[in-house]
Amino acid sequence: MLKLNSVNKTFNKNSLDEYKALDNVNLHLAEGEFVTVIGGNGAGKSTLFNAISGSVLCDSGKIILDGQDITYMPEHKRASFIGRVFQDPMRGTAPNMTVGENLTIAYMRSINRNMMGVPSRKEKDYIRSRLASLNLGLENRMNTKIGLLSGGQRQAVTLVMATLVKPKLLLLDEHTAALDPASAKTVTYLTRKIVAENNITTLMITHNIGSALSMGTRTIMMDSGTLVMDLKGEERKKASVEALLKLMTKYSSNTYRYE
Ligand SMILES: Nc1ncnc2c1ncn2[C@@H]1O[C@H](COP(=O)(O)OP(=O)(O)OP(=O)(O)O)[C@@H](O)[C@H]1O
Ligand SMILES: [Mg+2]
Repeated sequence: MLKLNSVNKTFNKNSLDEYKALDNVNLHLAEGEFVTVIGGNGAGKSTLFNAISGSVLCDSGKIILDGQDITYMPEHKRASFIGRVFQDPMRGTAPNMTVGENLTIAYMRSINRNMMGVPSRKEKDYIRSRLASLNLGLENRMNTKIGLLSGGQRQAVTLVMATLVKPKLLLLDEHTAALDPASAKTVTYLTRKIVAENNITTLMITHNIGSALSMGTRTIMMDSGTLVMDLKGEERKKASVEALLKLMTKYSSNTYRYE
């Protein structure tokens, strides 16, 4: 479903700040696979997502999604079939627009219709029903400006926005990291539910190793722009949080060693 072949990205080429953020990344995801992504700060996780979603263009390599070469496709075109939720609950929404308006725009974008267009009665009912399925009562807040919702409520709405029309790929970049523990738990629960119910191919970055091992069926680790671990099946079932933390610390200490 998703294939990254030898993807490379260097920032600030030919300057003192030159930095290879993605170093020959090869990654294949099967349809419906839910993969968690871990790795220390600066490992290249978000850059990987940026390359897939098109906000960063890679220098070489290929990115194929659902048989289509999207390596150099503009970001706005990919946005119609790649859903993305960020750490910052304000990102990806228009804070001064209402919950209903934000959802409508997301829906129109996903079906490639004029974003300022008006959905039909049936479509409006569908959007409301998706919001109601969160069980947070947000279907009664359709006319509230989204910026006035709590961080957890906004992340829940953003999750619905990203999946109103089943995306070919869902990218979750530490989307619960800025939330209080109770809200993080709710959004984690909703993530599991939405991904499972719709069988969405998903990549989820998290610094919570426990979540990384308990969600999805495969966990990859990045360090210095490369994939350093790919854990699935029995091996993953046996893996402990402590062992992965130890591995991550080992890589980070290598990265930050000054010689
Ligand atoms: N647009 C950019 N221009 C220059 N350097 C960048 C850019 N984006 C990322 N980098 C650099 O690439 C490296 C990887 O960054 P990235 O954001 O992918 O890390 P990450 O694994 O997501 O880390 P974190 O866990 O802190 O979010 C870092 O050294 C970062 O400074
Ligand atoms: Mg990041």
